[in-house]
Amino acid sequence: MNAHSATTGPILRVEHLSMKFGGLVAIGDLSFEAQRGEITALIGPNGAGKTTVFNCITGFYKPSEGMITLTTRAGSQFLLERLPDFQIPAKAKVARTFQNIRLFSGMTLLENLLVAQHNRLMEASGYTILGLLGLGGYGKASAQSIELAKHWLDKANLTDRADDPAGDLPYGAQRRLEIARAMCTEPELLCLDEPAAGLNPRESHALNLMLNDIKSTGTSILLIEHDMSVVMEISDHVVVLEYGRKISDGDPTSVKTDPRVIAAYLGVDDTEVTDALTEVGDEQVIEKLDAEPDRAHGPSDSASMMAGPVSDTVNHSDTEGEMIKVSRGASKAEQYERRAAALSNSLDTPRGGQPDKLTLIKGIGPVNERKLHEHGIFHFEQIAAWTEADVREVETYLDFDGRIAREDWIGQARSLAQKTGGAE
Ligand SMILES: Nc1ncnc2c1ncn2[C@@H]1O[C@H](COP(=O)(O)OP(=O)(O)OP(=O)(O)O)[C@@H](O)[C@H]1O
Ligand SMILES: [Mg+2]
Repeated sequence: MNAHSATTGPILRVEHLSMKFGGLVAIGDLSFEAQRGEITALIGPNGAGKTTVFNCITGFYKPSEGMITLTTRAGSQFLLERLPDFQIPAKAKVARTFQNIRLFSGMTLLENLLVAQHNRLMEASGYTILGLLGLGGYGKASAQSIELAKHWLDKANLTDRADDPAGDLPYGAQRRLEIARAMCTEPELLCLDEPAAGLNPRESHALNLMLNDIKSTGTSILLIEHDMSVVMEISDHVVVLEYGRKISDGDPTSVKTDPRVIAAYLGVDDTEVTDALTEVGDEQVIEKLDAEPDRAHGPSDSASMMAGPVSDTVNHSDTEGEMIKVSRGASKAEQYERRAAALSNSLDTPRGGQPDKLTLIKGIGPVNERKLHEHGIFHFEQIAAWTEADVREVETYLDFDGRIAREDWIGQARSLAQKTGGAE
């Protein structure tokens, strides 16, 4: 392929991709293309197979069938399903972020961005101590890495927090830092798994600005997103998945008005979706998707991006048994609503308009305090009165496992409620 066609043709071509976990068809015969320089959105209800597509593209899963072709700007072609996963970021220039944030929370922002460039720096050192001491290209490469890190810190609007631990950032800023870190590997294709989930409108706006900045550098973006307003605003092309199959593919306006998308994604009740699929002969897919997940076919055991332990992928809340039963057609937002409604003592607003300082409970930081507020928890006495079921609900949306008991939030809340005189 010549360089000219490489700059104009699709950067990514997915052909007849299937991913099976035992009897479960997570992706069935999926084909689509992502054009160079565009934002391609991958949308669909919970469990549709979006993250699995990312895991196949970035080498976390080896697909059961199909071909994934990546064409770089220079015209080199890579079959990603055959490339060893550690080569996918370095050679094929694909980077990703994860549905659950994965940063090195104890490291500073700058350190997080430098660690992402570790491979290139080690290469520049020639893997020798003399190289590390500044002979050869290491000194120059190291200066370039710092420049690149500063550039993306600036684009993420985080320069003034460069020396703070990443774990201290608010949620939306952590999302932008994750994207900045992926950009420091200088990808040609950036895969973002629900970057806008859980953001407030101001954070969403900052994210859109950053994505447009990235697009203007010529980097192509593959975006998984539930928020239709984000999808409509920033994507050039939308691919819709339902039960692992493609049900629509086109520009945002045509996809938005496609009746199958309206039925599947925007939420009609489960029986209507089932009826619609039965009509078009997809009963088999429904049956297969009713089967239990197969834990034996997890992700491969090395990461395709320096983004934290791979065990995180296995523990991805959507693949690890998923405590919450995903109802078809329900948006993620609706599911969060439902979970919140399940809390026995949530409030619409804090009593007397003034919430307690929940961060006084060891284990609750500002981010979790905000999430608790969003779910109607404002006072120590509410936490002190949580039932076991409440604890399970809260752990699900905070993505904690067992921490609430381990850190004894309920005991801490009880004594704080007594101290502040709020106990009943
Ligand atoms: N390692 C695995 N083992 C077994 N089943 C899996 C595995 N990974 C994914 N699945 C299943 O594949 C299906 C698709 O999951 P996936 O996480 O790709 O959906 P998604 O579209 O990203 O959903 P969400 O919007 O909730 O993130 C689900 O039924 C899921 O349980
Ligand atoms: Mg997902």
